[in-house]
Amino acid sequence: MDRLIIRGGVPLSGEIRVSGAKNAALPLMCASLLTGEQLTLSNVPHLRDVSTMLRLLAQIGVEVSLDDRLGLSLKAERLSDPVAPYDLVKTMRASILVLGPLLARRGEARVSLPGGCAIGLRPVDVHIKGLESLGAVISVEQGYIAARAKRLKGARILMDLVTVTGTENLMMAACLAEGTTVLENAAREPEVVDLAQCLSAMGARIRGAGTDLITIEGVTGLHGAAHRIMADRIETGTFLAAAAATGGEVALNGVDAAILDAVLEKLREAGARVGVVDGTISLAMSRRPSAVSVRTAPFPAFPTDMQAQVMALDAIAEGTSVITETIFENRFMHALEMQRLGADIEISGNTAIVRGVGKLQGATVMATDLRASASLVIAGLVAEGETTIERIYHLDRGYECIEEKLAQLGARIRRVH
Ligand code: EPU
Repeated sequence: MDRLIIRGGVPLSGEIRVSGAKNAALPLMCASLLTGEQLTLSNVPHLRDVSTMLRLLAQIGVEVSLDDRLGLSLKAERLSDPVAPYDLVKTMRASILVLGPLLARRGEARVSLPGGCAIGLRPVDVHIKGLESLGAVISVEQGYIAARAKRLKGARILMDLVTVTGTENLMMAACLAEGTTVLENAAREPEVVDLAQCLSAMGARIRGAGTDLITIEGVTGLHGAAHRIMADRIETGTFLAAAAATGGEVALNGVDAAILDAVLEKLREAGARVGVVDGTISLAMSRRPSAVSVRTAPFPAFPTDMQAQVMALDAIAEGTSVITETIFENRFMHALEMQRLGADIEISGNTAIVRGVGKLQGATVMATDLRASASLVIAGLVAEGETTIERIYHLDRGYECIEEKLAQLGARIRRVH
């Protein structure tokens, strides 16, 4: 199994281009199920989760072609088998995103129930309840969600809690429903907006994406479109946190700073100089970071997907910070691994108290999930000596060419097979 070996202590310096966003790409790929015409996506990141989604869509009958410039064409002219099997769903929960589109277009879908995962229980009850409100008949049989509907009917749906993929699933399903659907307490994440823009280009009628009230007027059919996937705000934040932790100076190109406010604010509070000019974010850190406390919450608040990376920064910061995770109940696995590098972190329920230490020492650590592995990379970049990170297949799910990009910024990092 692949491992990453990092020799820490080099401040990151230089310029890189940010890739397309994983969490935008996955729902956008599923949107192809809503039409028999071709959907062309550009700026597609080369990631394990994208390959897994391609396998799933191909199995359902979508014709897939990739060009050499990160372009992806998807054509769901004839759907063969509206099923998302356990083998794929267990490796990638975002597979649940085929449920809404399949049900809306084919009138039936069978999707394996995702079950627990490394960061928490993550049920899908809100997806199911929402689709039932649209008229679907849903049962759970032998571990599968089996859903049927002749034609979905628009409804007013109040979602119990803010769910990103839940909002996306219901928004996609409602595009082909009869009548108007209103989603209340919808997720406001930029990836939801990106999806709505693509769906609108396909002929959907959507208002309010980016607010907590989304209105969708159903249409009888959607058509093909071309869409460029937004830049990855979490990849951006990860590289910025790495630069801040190592006392570096970097410029990240091709990003939208407006959707990173909460993260940029925390990096400034830590002492970094952050500049934004026309799609480029620059960051320079010339001293030991100050500890920053964060509380994760749905967008536009501080993202849970950046919590682990900020913990790495806090681990070597001046002072003590309090990190509160309000989205997932088990998202502190990285703290134990960071302790192996010498960090001083105390966990109590959904709160971590991080007392900054002067330095970390290289050791062997294990990646437990995607963002946890990113935080260990940051910790490894600041640690003295050599850090080995095992199970980095987690990292490959969501970071495109991470070691190449870090090496471009001067890091001493290599992958061992
Ligand atoms: N939840 C329920 N019932 C539901 C749906 C969600 O109880 O039906 C709970 C979840 O268990 C969680 C909270 O609601 O406690 C929010 O979960 P949400 O549904 O928003 O998460 P998600 O849609 O499954 C997406 C991202 C995650 C990101 C979260 C939160 C994608 C493909 N995944 O997951 O990304 O952490 O939103 O922002 O968009 C990652 O990239 O590392 C990642 C985990």
